[in-house]
Amino acid sequence: MKILVCGGAGYIGSHTCVALAARGHDAVIYDNFSNSSPVAVERIAELAERPVALVEGDIRDAAQLAAALEGVDAVIHFAAFKAVGESCEQPLAYFENNIGGSVTLLQAMEAAGVANLVFSSSATVYGDPDSVPIREDAPLRVTNPYGRTKLVVEELIGDLCAARPGFNALLLRYFNPVGAHPSGRIGEDPGGIPNNLMPYISQVAVGARDCLSVFGGDYPTPDGTGVRDYIHVMDLAEAHVRAVETLRPGFGCQAVNLGTGQGVSVLELVRAFEEASGRKVPYRVIARRAGDVAMCWADPSRAAEVLGWRARLDLQRMCEDAWRWQSANPAGYRSA
Ligand code: NAD
Ligand code: UD1
Repeated sequence: MKILVCGGAGYIGSHTCVALAARGHDAVIYDNFSNSSPVAVERIAELAERPVALVEGDIRDAAQLAAALEGVDAVIHFAAFKAVGESCEQPLAYFENNIGGSVTLLQAMEAAGVANLVFSSSATVYGDPDSVPIREDAPLRVTNPYGRTKLVVEELIGDLCAARPGFNALLLRYFNPVGAHPSGRIGEDPGGIPNNLMPYISQVAVGARDCLSVFGGDYPTPDGTGVRDYIHVMDLAEAHVRAVETLRPGFGCQAVNLGTGQGVSVLELVRAFEEASGRKVPYRVIARRAGDVAMCWADPSRAAEVLGWRARLDLQRMCEDAWRWQSANPAGYRSA
């Protein structure tokens, strides 16, 4: 299949392109590099078992999308802004890029007769869940503008599938993607101070930052720190391959959780990372971060039913692979 991968140079997209190529699919990266590096594309080409094409373009550019969609069988749509804090300060930029960009992409797909879409959603659409593990039919609610963009785009895609029975979509709700390709050549490269736990821990371990701040030690969890469902990005990439292969006429629109089903606390992740890296990760417990939930993990059974997929890689592999990437590329792709 020929797959247009919007946002394919980013963290999850880059791993997915390598996985698509390994399955014999022709991936075309469509990215404006607003949060990624052309070096990632060179590394994808090095790891992929067949050529991966690149179109430098923006999903808000209808004409460029029209050209890129020629002969495409399915689109994987990763392209979005994703920083929660920034979305609270710049909501309009998030609405424009994430919602506006998605509408332009859907219009371009309709015009080009491309009817299969895999959309990057997030566990953020569950807000503060009533209970864990979270099933896909749990109530949906949002707590910040970034989350709203994910929920709105899910709904827009659902409406389009209802209006156009030929249109098929999978809404993939990721829990907490971490880790890197086992080669250490591609991985997560946040610019500036990382917002998320795993890249922060990696940067402390490599010596780029002094100390991890643990946000809250008084949650109603076994050790008082927040519990999440960390999932290896290689498992996630494999789920996207399954997703494009699952979409077919009459499939319609379905939401699927992508997680392991296992909760891991902040301190458990710190310990696992120390073991994998052989480095100390100094930390101090400070106040809770506004908007954080105590516990969030998936019921991953629908992914097994719909995609025939389940996560295989454990916490140790997530930490080992994250560390291999971080230690070989202490400044991310800027180390190249
Ligand atoms: P990322 O920022 O590394 O990748 C997104 C890519 O999209 C980047 O390469 C960026 O340059 C590109 N992009 C952004 N706007 C664009 C536009 N208008 N036109 C073309 N390209 C554009 O992020 P990621 O971590 O790989 O996440 C991928 C997707 O998964 C995002 O939609 C994100 O919201 C979602 N998601 C991520 C996580 C996570 O923890 N990483 C969790 C849940 C959901
Ligand atoms: C974040 C996003 C969420 C997104 C999810 C998946 C925020 C507020 N939310 O959630 O929208 O869907 O990632 O990628 O950014 N922690 C620390 N110290 C740190 C960083 C994090 O203690 O420096 C803790 C957090 O309090 C939390 C856990 O580590 O308990 C995980 O945090 P993080 O990696 O930011 O992910 P989420 O909070 O799940």
